[in-house]
Amino acid sequence: DHRLDKLDHRPRVVLVGPMGAGKTTVANLLAEAWGLSARDTDADIEAAEGRTVADIFVESGEPEFRRLERDAVARALEGHDGVLALGGGAVLDQSTRARLAGHTVVFLRVGLSDAVKRVGLGSARPLLLGNVRGRIKALLDERTPVYESVATLVVDTDGRSPEDVAGEIRATL
Ligand code: S3P
Repeated sequence: DHRLDKLDHRPRVVLVGPMGAGKTTVANLLAEAWGLSARDTDADIEAAEGRTVADIFVESGEPEFRRLERDAVARALEGHDGVLALGGGAVLDQSTRARLAGHTVVFLRVGLSDAVKRVGLGSARPLLLGNVRGRIKALLDERTPVYESVATLVVDTDGRSPEDVAGEIRATL
């Protein structure tokens, strides 16, 4: 019913996009505004494993991290009832992309220089070790079409605060 939608307008959304797009921060802002819970698959994995994402990469390797991530995303999407932020690489998995069909997926777009600024040159993110700018550029080039393919809404984040980005999402959905 259209009027009920208006009375309780709290869309359940999934946020995707690269590191430095602001997924976790924007998820928290949206959840707070809508009175929903926020969830983050990186945090779920760290809690389940009792170690950081960086440690999982070093100790077990990226393929094992991707397996853990695929399962964490599947669990989080089952009965998904809040605002969910996915790790930046989660959409590379084909079964994850298939699971996203039917969800409201927001791609937080970010350009190279803002991504580098936000992630920080001394990033602890394992995929960026050594050459933050070059690695982010490669990830953006490779993944942008994938993010676009799963997105129902694309929001630009360059030069904008998380509050501003969250405000646009709330006004649009
Ligand atoms: C990754 C992004 C990270 C984390 C891991 C790998 C990626 O999540 O899952 O370091 O492949 O882009 P954030 O996008 O939340 O930083």
